[in-house]
Amino acid sequence: MITLTTPHQIQSWRKRLPARGSIGFVPTMGALHDGHLSLIKRAKKENALTVVSLFVNPIQFGPKEDFARYPRPRRKDTALLKKTGVDVLFAPNTKAMYPNDVLTSVIVKDLTDTLCGAPSSRGPAHFSGVATVVAKLFNLVRPTQAYFGLKDYQQVRIIEQMNEDLNMGITIIRCPTVRDSDGLARSSRNTLLSPQERKVAPLLYAALQRGRKLLRSPRKMSLREFRHQIKSTLLTIPNVKIDYIELVDPKTLHKCESPRAPALLAAAIRLGTTRLIDNILVTR
Ligand code: PAJ
Repeated sequence: MITLTTPHQIQSWRKRLPARGSIGFVPTMGALHDGHLSLIKRAKKENALTVVSLFVNPIQFGPKEDFARYPRPRRKDTALLKKTGVDVLFAPNTKAMYPNDVLTSVIVKDLTDTLCGAPSSRGPAHFSGVATVVAKLFNLVRPTQAYFGLKDYQQVRIIEQMNEDLNMGITIIRCPTVRDSDGLARSSRNTLLSPQERKVAPLLYAALQRGRKLLRSPRKMSLREFRHQIKSTLLTIPNVKIDYIELVDPKTLHKCESPRAPALLAAAIRLGTTRLIDNILVTR
């Protein structure tokens, strides 16, 4: 595995590559777990070369968010990537990625200001930070295919839209959410949960599954009642704070006016100081 740490290094590596052969790219912020590994393994299977980036991107964190305490087990991550057979690791530091003030920002209208991007949640600046760094990384790596997890469904939709609107020409591959055996979606932030919080965290997925059952049941109910049912499952979690529960159109992310499928059911909660998100796509 080659490790590159500056935009200049990866650009010259890329320029020297022969035109033939596909490049699979998996952008990450590290603290790697089985969710990340499923994307990387798939990229390896489907491409001649696999590039993984590891960069905790400051511009996607709000001033009150967990940028400073985001886990950074760099040595462990590097060893894992080597073992998995990644060809190139791109691991720049903040100064390398943002040497000057960033005056350019990618805004994907509409999709960025709902769910996690709502002003009452992380706010739209979060996804502009994500889209901007992913655009930079796409320009540096110039991959054939890029792999994103459906655990961050809104993120995938935003990247798909940016790729299409700006004619980036990359194939965006959606990968299924990897979960622990009790249903909790794998996340780098799970390591920040206390043992008690970890025990009750699977109730987030349980609440979404309850939602799926309700959507598929023949009994008609109002959106209000539907949300109430899910909320009551979530409120059985001790000390939980509900950030949002939403049922949205899977493409536009616009809120559904009544409980129906197909739809994306998404929720975000806070357990102590840790924020967890999850979603399920409910088909008919
Ligand atoms: P990060 O949270 O490290 O996630 C990197 C990729 O792994 C994302 O595509 C995410 O959806 C995927 N992933 C995380 N947990 C997963 C799980 N349980 N199952 C399947 N896939 C999972 O997402 C980011 O980093 C950043 O926003 C980034 C795109 C790198 C831009 O900074």
